Amino acid sequence: MRKVGVTAAGSRPIAQQTMSRNVFGRRASAALLACGVLAIAAAVAGVPAARAQSFDLGPDACQNCHKAEFEVWQKTKHATSFNDFHRLPKVRDVLKVTGDRSPKQSKVCVTCHYTTAQKDAAAKPDLVAGPACESCHGAASNWIKIHNDFGGPGVKQADEKPDHKAKRIADSKAAGMIRPEMKFDIVSNCYGCHALGRKELDGKVLSGMIDAGHPTNDEFEFIRFSQGQVRHRFYPPDTAVNKEITPQANAEWYAVGQAAALVAATQGAGKTDNAKYAAADAARIAKAKEVLGKIAEAKALLASPTPEAGRAFAAAIDGKDLTKAVGALSDPSSYK
Ligand code: HEC
Ligand code: HEC
Ligand code: HEC
Ligand code: HEC
Repeated sequence: MRKVGVTAAGSRPIAQQTMSRNVFGRRASAALLACGVLAIAAAVAGVPAARAQSFDLGPDACQNCHKAEFEVWQKTKHATSFNDFHRLPKVRDVLKVTGDRSPKQSKVCVTCHYTTAQKDAAAKPDLVAGPACESCHGAASNWIKIHNDFGGPGVKQADEKPDHKAKRIADSKAAGMIRPEMKFDIVSNCYGCHALGRKELDGKVLSGMIDAGHPTNDEFEFIRFSQGQVRHRFYPPDTAVNKEITPQANAEWYAVGQAAALVAATQGAGKTDNAKYAAADAARIAKAKEVLGKIAEAKALLASPTPEAGRAFAAAIDGKDLTKAVGALSDPSSYK
């Protein structure tokens, strides 16, 4: 693997962006400063200081324990793009906006197109892959040791005590893990990259990129994009099988996908007045309103499309059968 040292924050999930060590905007440094001040205040008050910023370890750090998921990921465009994306002629056109020589050296492109990983906090970040495990599940340095500790060395998952399990899951989340059951957060994270909404991306740069031919990804829809090449559902009891999603779960994820689209597009609307971007956002909002308008639990979310309302909506429909309410979904033959 070719490695290029970069200093960018890399593919950092939405949930972690406010504390990202990114270099793209003043707001970020203000946030960073605020964290520093808080940490000092906490230390002075005798409370333990906030944990250091979590960083990406790279997909190799997951491979040994999650072989099946790794093998699925390796065949996706997320993984294969590492070898061919920088050679696309269209990339040259978009790069003119930032003036960089290669997307691998462009802080802007690295935000969404690559994973930069570190061995430890002191190490220099290396470009190791395209979007990978931690782009979707959260930078793992702070949670990797917590998420599979079932009660000390040698304790098997089957023997884990219920209160330990609850604490393990809560602690993993607090350390930045985006777990599979956090449906709204995991889908919002896709939209951050696919709907170009990520906070690090400056509105003027975004507008220039779109004018230079960067796709606005109008066709992104969670089911269509998650149930093809990306799907990994090796859930128990048979962890050897990559299971297809059930119609009921499909409808639920679809509804959460529309909720995430609504929130992402509403938040992205102020980013730039680029006409193409505005049109893509408006279409996302219209589609989401059409679908969510048929679901009673979406009332508060429609009135106020915030991440909090999105999470509350996902919790309210958890386990419910929405197959009739949402109607026909993307046809499997259209899955990416
Ligand atoms: C030392 C082994 C080990 C390593 C390394 C490891 N995991 Fe895990 N992971 C586990 C075990 C064991 C579980 C619990 C079993 C399960 O639910 O699949 C788990 C659970 C998970 C889950 C939740 C699954 C669920 O259904 O709740 C995710 C997501 C996950 N790991 C992602 C990762 C990622 C991403 C990495 C790399 C950054 C990683 N893991 C590294 C062992 C490991
Ligand atoms: C906010 C996230 C984001 C940023 C920043 C970003 N891209 Fe993208 N880009 C994407 C996504 C997501 C896709 C793919 C969508 C798909 O395939 O459905 C994409 C696709 C592309 C494509 C089309 C690829 C193809 O196969 O046709 C080009 C070209 C491209 N990006 C260039 C760039 C360049 C150059 C930069 C840096 C200047 C950049 N992008 C920055 C998210 C981003
Ligand atoms: C494009 C985003 C994305 C990437 C990349 C990704 N995941 Fe996931 N992952 C998800 C989503 C979404 C789910 C929930 C799937 C569901 O329940 O249908 C999930 C579920 C899981 C689960 C629980 C299901 C199972 O297979 O046991 C594990 C474990 C997991 N991911 C680990 C990984 C590892 C390890 C990698 C990298 C090799 C990875 N993921 C890459 C989005 C992603
Ligand atoms: C860190 C940013 C990022 C995140 C998060 C992300 N993606 Fe992507 N995704 C990309 C980029 C960049 C590409 C395009 C790579 C290329 O064209 O070379 C892409 C491509 C894809 C493709 C291939 C599309 C095609 O036209 O072949 C699918 C499918 C996909 N993503 C699904 C998802 C899903 C589903 C999620 C969330 C569970 C997700 N992605 C999260 C950045 C991201």
